[in-house]
Amino acid sequence: MPTRVVRVKVLFDARARIAALLWLVKPRVVGGDLGQATVRVVPRDLRRRVDELDATHDDEECGCDWRHTCASHQSMGGASHVIARDGRYGEVTEDDVKHFVRCVGGDAAGVVVSTSATATNLQDGGGDALDKYNVDWMGKYHGRSRVAVLPKTTEELSAIMARCHARNLAVVPQGGNTGLVGGGVPAHDEVVVNLGRMNAIVSIDEDAGVSVVEAGVVLEELESAVRARGMTVPLDLGAKGKCQMGGCVSTNAGGLRLLRYGSLRGSVLGLEVVLANGEVLDLLRTLRKDNTGYDLKQLFIGAEGTLGIVTKIAILTPRAPTNVNVALFGLDSFASCVELLKLARGRLGEILSAFEFFDRESLDLVLEQLKGTRDPLAKPCPFYVVVETSGSVKSHDNAKLQAFLKIVKNKRVIVDGVVGKDEKHAFALWTLRERISVALKYAGAVYKYDISLPTARMYNLVTTLRARLAPQFGSGVKVLGYGHLGDGNLHLNISCAEYTDALERAIEPFVYEYTRDERGSVSAEHGLGIMKAEEIIYSKDAKAVELMGAMKRALDPRGILNPYKVLPAATRAAALVPMSKL
Ligand code: FAD
Ligand code: MLT
Ligand code: ZN
Repeated sequence: MPTRVVRVKVLFDARARIAALLWLVKPRVVGGDLGQATVRVVPRDLRRRVDELDATHDDEECGCDWRHTCASHQSMGGASHVIARDGRYGEVTEDDVKHFVRCVGGDAAGVVVSTSATATNLQDGGGDALDKYNVDWMGKYHGRSRVAVLPKTTEELSAIMARCHARNLAVVPQGGNTGLVGGGVPAHDEVVVNLGRMNAIVSIDEDAGVSVVEAGVVLEELESAVRARGMTVPLDLGAKGKCQMGGCVSTNAGGLRLLRYGSLRGSVLGLEVVLANGEVLDLLRTLRKDNTGYDLKQLFIGAEGTLGIVTKIAILTPRAPTNVNVALFGLDSFASCVELLKLARGRLGEILSAFEFFDRESLDLVLEQLKGTRDPLAKPCPFYVVVETSGSVKSHDNAKLQAFLKIVKNKRVIVDGVVGKDEKHAFALWTLRERISVALKYAGAVYKYDISLPTARMYNLVTTLRARLAPQFGSGVKVLGYGHLGDGNLHLNISCAEYTDALERAIEPFVYEYTRDERGSVSAEHGLGIMKAEEIIYSKDAKAVELMGAMKRALDPRGILNPYKVLPAATRAAALVPMSKL
């Protein structure tokens, strides 16, 4: 059973190292009065700096000149949700920082402290070592943490958590910081625990098709490592170059391969987790079958860092397909997209590996924002579908695809279509779907909703919302629909120049009520984070939320793990065990 250990080189900001050392030699006040800190939209100047820190903005990767494109689209402003800091949490002191440095064995790179002089480090425009930990990928949510710790081992993390627990310091676990609901950044001054340095691939077992990784391994790095052995990761998403396996597990990320491999809940075989009090819970098994009692690992999958910090993962890595085809179709109605899905399921069967849709509005934005992209078909269509097949016998797969193409053409389900002629062409077709979220980010402000709805009626929400917003907001507000049609998952996005209360009020709670009335889910795959902690009630009944509170109480009685996220404020408050009883 071949085993390989890979430690990925991580680069550190020299400024942050110096700051950590300075902190220790020069006493200073930490935290201070942060008052009614807010989850707010990042100011214009800062937004560019955050973009520059963003590893997904890679010219080579996306083939576009993002710096140029971004510079002309910085028009953010205003504030969104305001959440009060909970005064029960302690504030980080100089002693805590010294302790954290000891926990990471005196390695200054393992503790990053704010380099700005003021408590409102993000507002001073001077650039701060903590910016990249405080601000999310969209540049939409930001906190005011003064310290980020980056342990290298489970033992180090355990010691850090024991300290935070004893001192009642709130903590936000953080992976690649690509989450889309503000879950991975602090709401206030929480200690950021970033898993980026726990990035070893522990083992790859080709016989069993199972890999064991530390939580900080980047999805794309795992994919490359297993690909070299003819295997694949049963998860793929647009953020693969930056998101970490721990973050993916903690959000139960769905992505582009769920149709083929199912949810991570089925692919993850085992976990190691550090609990709120620093104890290590060893659920790291590589067994496919294990019915000994409750399946505790499921509690941490999709818990968004509120129940424990995932440190190691055992995940199925099946054989990679050797023959992949990608086709893109233009269609004249959403009903035709649904008809195409039915035919794809019936005719392509076991080789169907992705079925994604987007509307013309989404494509227009991609063509406008991402350099190097091209209209894929001769004439514009209102809807597009990307179909991928993955198999292992070329002649068989290709024959199936040809038969499928013939039937959808003859039945006039599609208006036009194109099949990727080589890998480069297939990649270009995929880009039109996969990078819509990047185009949205460049275009300005975006309200994002990630909804499960009955497939056939899914797009009605897009047209209903368009009709609702147009009279008041005109053409400056664009409503886009795209998503994982094969999974019944709509990404509803409202793109506009800036965030305004009026627009937000016109969208919410309407979108949530609509989803509730359809018995859908207000979070299909992105999680609840800080954005939708109160909105869980639209998709879960009161008893279920109460039980979640009981789980939170059992695992994190002080409520230090990712406070303000996932559960409504009232449920979180009820879950806290009074200090006198601890
Ligand atoms: P972060 O953003 O750092 O954190 C996400 C949440 O997990 C936070 O609540 C955080 O506290 C918690 N967390 C992180 N690491 C740990 C840990 N080790 N232990 C405990 N808690 C932890 N999502 C999809 O589901 N499908 C998609 O197709 C998809 N496409 C995307 C495309 C783009 C371009 C972008 C920017 C995002 C996309 N996402 C998608 C959202 C995001 O990438 C996923 O949610 C991803 O799983 C987050 O991983 P991360 O490492 O960046 O986590
Ligand atoms: C996607 O499917 O593209 C992602 O979930 C990101 C998004 O919703 O924008
Ligand atoms: Zn998605």
